[in-house]
Amino acid sequence: MCGIIGYVGKRQAAPILIDGLKRLEYRGYDSSGIAVVENAKIKLIKSEGKIAELEKRSSGGKKLNGTFGIGHTRWATHGEPNTTNAHPHVSNDGRFAVVHNGIIENFAELKSELIADGCKFASETDSEVIPQLLQRIYDGDMLAALRTLESRLKGSYAVGIVCADEPDRLYAVRKDNPLIIGLGDGENFIVSDISAALRYTRKFVLLDNSETAVVTPDGIKCYDASGAPIEKEPYTVDWDVDRAEKGGYPHFMIKEIHEQPRALTDTLRPRISDGDIDLDGINFDKSYVDGLTGIDIVGCGSAYHAGIVGKYFIEKHCRIPVVNILASEYIYSDPITDGKRLTVIISQSGETADTLAALRLAKKLGSKTLAIVNVVHSAIARDADSVLYTHAGPEIAVATTKGYTTQVAALYLLGLKLAAIKGTITQKRFTDLVEKLEALPNNVTEQLAEPEVEKVKTLAARYADHHCVFFIGRGTDYAASLEGALKLKEISYIHAEAYAAGELKHGTISLIEQGTLTLALTTQTALYHKMESNIKSVESRGGTVLAIASPANSHIGECCNDMLTIPECDDDLSPVLTAVVLQLFAYYVALDRKCDIDKPRNLAKSVTVE
Ligand code: F6R
Repeated sequence: MCGIIGYVGKRQAAPILIDGLKRLEYRGYDSSGIAVVENAKIKLIKSEGKIAELEKRSSGGKKLNGTFGIGHTRWATHGEPNTTNAHPHVSNDGRFAVVHNGIIENFAELKSELIADGCKFASETDSEVIPQLLQRIYDGDMLAALRTLESRLKGSYAVGIVCADEPDRLYAVRKDNPLIIGLGDGENFIVSDISAALRYTRKFVLLDNSETAVVTPDGIKCYDASGAPIEKEPYTVDWDVDRAEKGGYPHFMIKEIHEQPRALTDTLRPRISDGDIDLDGINFDKSYVDGLTGIDIVGCGSAYHAGIVGKYFIEKHCRIPVVNILASEYIYSDPITDGKRLTVIISQSGETADTLAALRLAKKLGSKTLAIVNVVHSAIARDADSVLYTHAGPEIAVATTKGYTTQVAALYLLGLKLAAIKGTITQKRFTDLVEKLEALPNNVTEQLAEPEVEKVKTLAARYADHHCVFFIGRGTDYAASLEGALKLKEISYIHAEAYAAGELKHGTISLIEQGTLTLALTTQTALYHKMESNIKSVESRGGTVLAIASPANSHIGECCNDMLTIPECDDDLSPVLTAVVLQLFAYYVALDRKCDIDKPRNLAKSVTVE
């Protein structure tokens, strides 16, 4: 995840900026850079890879003498991870340097407009439109320029700016991306994450959405969206560095669970415009889509499970047969594929050895390949014919959460796009689903509100001492059950298995005895009565049932021991919301059992061996 630090004070800025960037390293990054204003000129040093390299290039910051500047660690979203794409980005006239976290959704439009006006872009990033726009807007009044800038930008952003004409000040604006001001003694900071400035101060001011701050060595001035000055109350933190890195949460996993509304927004919103879907310019020819004999979705673990959700969605809306294949099986199964099949390769890390091998084999056999990947320019992203990035930001906890839900979101986009091309979905249903997809991040925000989380926590505590748990569901609920069971087993070490609810009676029901816990996903209205009878057959054998239901199906609670409901959403999209409940359930069960949640035994984040 990108990180921002800005410093203004009496000391040499660059060594402080580099130190701040080192504190942000844990968030994951691929390049870094600093810009300092020295004698009314912006001096820039950037580098690919580790901050140690930036430190070397700048002699620990000693090469830059100014007392105010900005720094950034970049996690690539648009454009390769390299020195040119690293931030800060500077305007053509060299007067503005900018660091940016987030995604500028209308950057392509702004870029074309700026190019037509003679602007030369150095990088492939969305962020570079910001300094280039500022150069054109600024006429000596920086606050007015920032208001105009904000009116032109669509998307999410936390932005730190220095201007060579404006001595001893940093400017900060934000929307849907955190930005915090650190208050020191004769020096002040802007940071995306308080851990970057914790060594220098414990007093912070949180910038709210659409607010602007002007930060000088002696103070800060904040303004609301209309430009009116506002007073902000500082707060003091007593967190240690470890807690600060986790944003105040005890574990990365729970922090990442809470990051899902933003991760989903960043994955969905840039691809949806005026009710239509644009998959980053990936063009599917109608004759190719019409001629597809099938789609193979390949991945491992949770990525494989995301693919199963994708299968239900794509088959329903595109009427194209979809086969889910574990990457480790695909490579040794002599797969049948050719130019009439699309192979969708899913991987959060983009480095999983089995998945990479499957991608290479599919390509060799003549299939078109589309990768759904989180890490930009990873091996799978580089090798696939086309890539749809998930924009979840780096995941540090071993158990994936936002990685998985954003994969599912990307598959929904893909399914809808193919259905529209093939003409297998009505315009009405397409529009309806696009609107509901856009609402998903807000649905997840509702689920993560304190009272909802408390309900999950209470039930997790009630069931934490179980040794064996079943997850059942039908249709897309079955697909969601697979991921729920994996989450629980990998972090709490409870044996958990997912079954298609109708399959239980073909053998596994013999394992249900007094008190055996079954989580029954019941979000599919059309399958309600079937689920009801499956639940009753578990209960009649003494089993305990915790239902995860949609509001429409909440009367299922009458035949269950406990129930959690998800927010109102389309039945086709419920796996994202059930995933969030099941992630929380697994997390709080594991917490109760005092497990090492972020680093479960025997597991690694990236599996780069076969
Ligand atoms: C489970 C989990 C793993 C990964 C799997 C694939 O929480 O994280 O099952 O989903 O190892 O990893 P990627 O997606 O990086 O290919």
